[in-house]
Amino acid sequence: MSDLERVRRDSGIIGTSEGIEQVLEMIVQVAPVDISVLVTGESGTGKEIVAKAIHKQSRRSSKPLVTVNCGAIPEGIIESELFGHKKGAFTGAAEDRKGYFEEADNGTVFLDEIGEMPVETQVKLLRVLESGEFMRVGDAKTRKVDVRMIAATNKNLAEETDKGRFRRDLYYRLRTVTIDVPPLRQRLEDIDLLTERFALLFSRSNDIVFRGFSSDAIRVMKQYDWPGNIRELRNFVESVILLEKGNKISSEMVLKHLEPMVGGTSSNLPVPVDKSSGQAERELILQQLLFLRQDMREIKGLFSGGQIDRSGEVGYIDSGGGLNFRALEGDVGNLIKSAAIGDMSVKDLEAELISRTLKKFNNNRRKTARALGISERTLYRKINDYGLEKKQKRFKDTDE
Ligand SMILES: Nc1ncnc2c1ncn2[C@@H]1O[C@H](COP(=O)(O)OP(=O)(O)OP(=O)(O)O)[C@@H](O)[C@H]1O
Ligand SMILES: [Mg+2]
Repeated sequence: MSDLERVRRDSGIIGTSEGIEQVLEMIVQVAPVDISVLVTGESGTGKEIVAKAIHKQSRRSSKPLVTVNCGAIPEGIIESELFGHKKGAFTGAAEDRKGYFEEADNGTVFLDEIGEMPVETQVKLLRVLESGEFMRVGDAKTRKVDVRMIAATNKNLAEETDKGRFRRDLYYRLRTVTIDVPPLRQRLEDIDLLTERFALLFSRSNDIVFRGFSSDAIRVMKQYDWPGNIRELRNFVESVILLEKGNKISSEMVLKHLEPMVGGTSSNLPVPVDKSSGQAERELILQQLLFLRQDMREIKGLFSGGQIDRSGEVGYIDSGGGLNFRALEGDVGNLIKSAAIGDMSVKDLEAELISRTLKKFNNNRRKTARALGISERTLYRKINDYGLEKKQKRFKDTDE
C-alpha cells in the first residue's frame, strides 16, 4: 500500500479529486518532519481532519494531540490556558496549573482559528515556536517544551497582517508549509463518495432504512455551490435521509430540502432538474462562455479607461458569484451570433472553449480543468477527442 493510500485509510479523508489528492500528498510529505504547518481553507472544508491526519502520521502519534480553539477562549484567559499559570497569578488562580503546551509536551498542539489569537499572545507563541520556551502566567521561571504546532484558519492571514491584526513575523514563520484545503465547489466530483459514506454512517448508526441516491439527485447536488462545504453536505445528506425515510432519494427531494437550507431565495442554487448529462454539460459550457464574455468586457473597460459596466450584459446576472441557470435558459440565443445557428454544435462550442481556456492558462491542464469545472481526467479525454493536442503544440511553437 502506498503512503498516500495509508493516509487515506487512516485519516478517513474521502475524495479522489485532484484537490484532495494534493492535500493527501502534502500530508504524506510533511507529517514525518517536525515542522509547523498552517492549514487554510473555508469553513467546513476539513481543516481539522487534515490536522489530525498529520499528527497521526507523525512520529508523535502516540503522544497527545491537544486541540485549542483560539476563537472560543476569552482574550483575558487565553495566555493562562496556553501557557499555564502560577498560583495567585490572578484572582481565581488557586493553584499552579499547566497550560496546553505543557500538556502537549512531546506531542502536537493544534491551534484552530489562529487568526483569532490576540496580537500580544502571538508574540509568546512565536517564542515557543522558535525556542520551545515560555513562562506560565505570573511565573518568572522559563520552561521548555518539545511541541509540534499545527495551526488552522479560514481567514486570509496576509490580509490580517496588512491590517495589523496578525503579526508579520509569526505569519512568515507559519506560512512556510501551508496546506490549502480546497472548497467543495472545486471538487464536486467527490460528492458521490462523500454522500455515500455520510449516508451509510448515518443510516447505520440510527437504524434508518436507506435506499441510496438516484444519479439525478447526485447531479443536482453537484450543481449547488456548497458554501458550508463538507460540513454542509454532511448535514444535508443526514437530514434528507431522515426526512425521506425509506425512499430512494430523488432529484426532487434534493431540491425540496436544499432550497430551504439556502433560505429559499437562493441564487446559488441552479435548478436544471432531470437534465441529461449532455444538457448539464451544455449549460456548463454556456456558463463558461458567459464568463469569457464578462472577462472581455472587463478588459475592454480597462483599456478604454472607463468604468466596468455589467448592467447591459445579456444573460448575465450578478448573483454574488454564482450564475442563475433559470435566468440563463431564456437568453441563451443571444450568446451566439444568429448566423452561426445551424452550423454550430455543442461539440464545436466545447472544443473552442477548452482550447481558449488552455491558452489562457498557458496550457496548464490543472488550472484549465479547475476553471472549466471538470476533472483533469475528463479534460485529457476531451483534448484527445477533439484533437486539441496538436493545436496546442502549434500555439506553443509559434509563441517560442
Ligand atoms: N475529505 C473529507 N472526507 C470525509 N469527511 C470529511 C472530509 N472533509 C471534512 N470532513 C468532515 O466534515 C466535517 C467538517 O470538517 P472539519 O471540522 O475538519 O472542517 P473545518 O475546515 O475544520 O471547519 P471550520 O473552519 O468550520 O472549523 C467533519 O465532520 C469532518 O469529519
Ligand atoms: Mg475546524
